[in-house]
Amino acid sequence: MNLKNTVSRRKFMGGLAMAAGYMGFRPESPLEAQVMPPAEAGAGGRQASTDEYDNWAKLCFNENPYGPPDSVIKAMNGAMKYANRYGNPDGGIVQAIATHHGVSPANVLLGAGSTEILDVVDETFLDGGKKVIGVKPTYGAVYEFARGVKSDSIQLDLLPDHRQDIPAMIKATQDHRGQVGFVYIVNPNNPTGCIVTKSEIKQLLDGIPENIPVLIDEAYHHYVESPDYETSIPYVLQGRPVVVARTFSKIVCLAGMRLGYAVAPTSLMDRMREHSVASINALVKWGGVAALKDTEAQARVKSMTLDLRKKTTTELASMGYDIVPSETNFFMVNIRRPVNTVTGEFRKRAVLVGRPFPPMTNYLRVSVGNADEMARFMAAFKEIVKTG
Ligand SMILES: Cc1ncc(COP(=O)(O)O)c(C=O)c1O
Repeated sequence: MNLKNTVSRRKFMGGLAMAAGYMGFRPESPLEAQVMPPAEAGAGGRQASTDEYDNWAKLCFNENPYGPPDSVIKAMNGAMKYANRYGNPDGGIVQAIATHHGVSPANVLLGAGSTEILDVVDETFLDGGKKVIGVKPTYGAVYEFARGVKSDSIQLDLLPDHRQDIPAMIKATQDHRGQVGFVYIVNPNNPTGCIVTKSEIKQLLDGIPENIPVLIDEAYHHYVESPDYETSIPYVLQGRPVVVARTFSKIVCLAGMRLGYAVAPTSLMDRMREHSVASINALVKWGGVAALKDTEAQARVKSMTLDLRKKTTTELASMGYDIVPSETNFFMVNIRRPVNTVTGEFRKRAVLVGRPFPPMTNYLRVSVGNADEMARFMAAFKEIVKTG
């Protein structure tokens, strides 16, 4: 590892420690999806107790409420004996991911969560002050990390129906072609839950200069039902300059264990590897292999989540609220007033809901929890928003 990488990794790991340990809650933190604000979280600004934490309906981080399936817990328990080793044995996780996608292990890069992959992509492709092009609102880590490497972002507005504006993205990329390091698409997008269709992805890839990489973040891939959507991994097989980011934090339920990965052509991968530490624990590597095999558990989570999303959004719609049609384990509801005027009220009722996502500041993002959590959300919504 060269000096630049050492420094860069220290920055990343330091950032994690800071976010998890001593930083107060910064709503714009790229790691807001992974860490609970330590101080402000509990009543009276003190550290929340475990009981208090357990009691909250946690509908703010798009987590999976159900806990890892038995198959995954068993695999992680079995790997505990390797806790004294750094990297191996690793359960064959890279090969398992490669086989799962029909690519070569050379096309796979592991990260401590896909957050690390987003950081690696920034570090790799934003050298020399190049910019990232994406939309707002979206998952902000890529823009935050860009600031960390002294780069900038071009953030385009969404369309009136909250979808990503692909023709505008093509135009912006062409207009700034010399300055663009890569294009960022979150598909489906967070916080809106909207997809970019397979034909729009093709339109984008065919419409921008062919040397500009496109990072396609598929964190919520498994929840999508629309026939107009598909993964962009086939483009990697064609050697197109596409990096697909995936995570084990969502449907697979391992957010706290930190495992994600990128799939990309070797021409991009060789450059990205130089910026990676991939400091991943043995437990999650073995758990990840088991999780990929346990498609039944994934199907169960998907079905429970989508049923509860439908039930909740149908009830909200029947009360006259507009919902952004979602293909994910969260949705946005237009509460017709600023979100930051209600989040404290939800918290008083032990329901944690999403923060404001400018410019959609009247839209409340709600992660789909379990049945009990959603019932508590609806009860709180009726008290706070409906009558407010
Ligand atoms: C779109 C998107 N990408 C990436 C991540 C990061 O996930 P992780 O680092 O847990 O893999 C998240 C987390 O919420 C996300 O919403």
